[in-house]
Amino acid sequence: MRPVEIKKDIFWVGVVDWNSRDFHGYSRSPMGTTYNAFVIKDEKTVLIDSAKASFLDMFLCCLSQATPLDQIDYLVVNHLEPDHAGCLPRLVELVKPEKIFCSPLGEKALRSYYHHSKDWPIQVMPSGSELSIGQRTLKFYETRMLHWPDNMLTYCPEAAIAFSSDAFGQNWASGERFADQVDRGVLDRLMAEYYANIVLPYSPQVLKTLEELGKLGLNLDMLCPDHGLIWRGKADVVHAMTSYQNFALQKPVNKAVIAYDTMWHSTEKMALSIADGLIDAGVSVRVMNVKENHHSRVMSELFDAAAFIVGSPTHNNGILPGVADLMTYVKGLRPQNKIGACFGSFGWSGECVNILTDWLKTMKMDLVEPAVKVKNAPDHQVFQQCYDLGTKVAEAIKVKLAG
Ligand code: FEO
Repeated sequence: MRPVEIKKDIFWVGVVDWNSRDFHGYSRSPMGTTYNAFVIKDEKTVLIDSAKASFLDMFLCCLSQATPLDQIDYLVVNHLEPDHAGCLPRLVELVKPEKIFCSPLGEKALRSYYHHSKDWPIQVMPSGSELSIGQRTLKFYETRMLHWPDNMLTYCPEAAIAFSSDAFGQNWASGERFADQVDRGVLDRLMAEYYANIVLPYSPQVLKTLEELGKLGLNLDMLCPDHGLIWRGKADVVHAMTSYQNFALQKPVNKAVIAYDTMWHSTEKMALSIADGLIDAGVSVRVMNVKENHHSRVMSELFDAAAFIVGSPTHNNGILPGVADLMTYVKGLRPQNKIGACFGSFGWSGECVNILTDWLKTMKMDLVEPAVKVKNAPDHQVFQQCYDLGTKVAEAIKVKLAG
């Protein structure tokens, strides 16, 4: 890609990763992603963030069309995770920057992540500190846990622009650079999916950070995340920030996710009967076999759902590995305000629903009981029990949404 001037003398110089599907080793990015970096040309030339090391050549090609590398004075590391700082070791060799600016928690982490950083000219910028680069000023604000402890936001008041690192990003590889150039429905869904899979456990910190940024009264008409499309214009900046506020509050909607695995389709048939009970009670339902749906896809649907209903047959005195994978992933993301229920079939020992109930309890979900369990294969009576479980979950959803 070639640089794109997003404001006078401010350039996008990132990389589009069209084929990214595995995001950070645990989540999926079905529409690819971008690693956004930015150059500001003033009396000092500043590069904010970089890209994944595997894209070094492409990144340097784009960057050097915006500015000769030896004219870059400062590097700003808003976030040291390798998708944004992977090019740093080579960049430092090529650019020989006068200073590398990072957050207080960024310094130690930079030195331990990129081991040859001992001699780098790192300067810590405490939250609220500022730096003159000529006609413009850069102000640095910590945004801890959005998404790692080191994250910070760089604000340029003269340009009314903030470089927000992971916050407000979306995984979408595109030729367009601005949010107002793409389908808003798709973009909003991708921003929510990013939040659900990457930022969700840190929702309390998100609310605190948004409150603190709100008190600062930043004048913003452009918000530049490190992934995906740039939010341009005050209305879109407010939209992105309001979306994050709503994501962090985790208010559920009238929706239930039924996730399960199955051996000989007994547990699957139970899932379908539970779905019938929910559908007949007016609840929007997603039925998701974990063999067909990656855990991040399930999490994206579960994010705004009011209920999580999980099923597994008993397998070797436990649950099937695909369900254990999902439960580990969901628990780590700490979703709030959920109703939980479970079900499963078994051949002889039958531990499945006790194990699933324990998982739901550790996630502090409001349980709808009793779980439905069947030996071998469900009959009409068991289908009715499953239907009734769906109805009971629907009633619990109504109460929760009214509360
Ligand atoms: Fe996009 Fe936390 O890295």
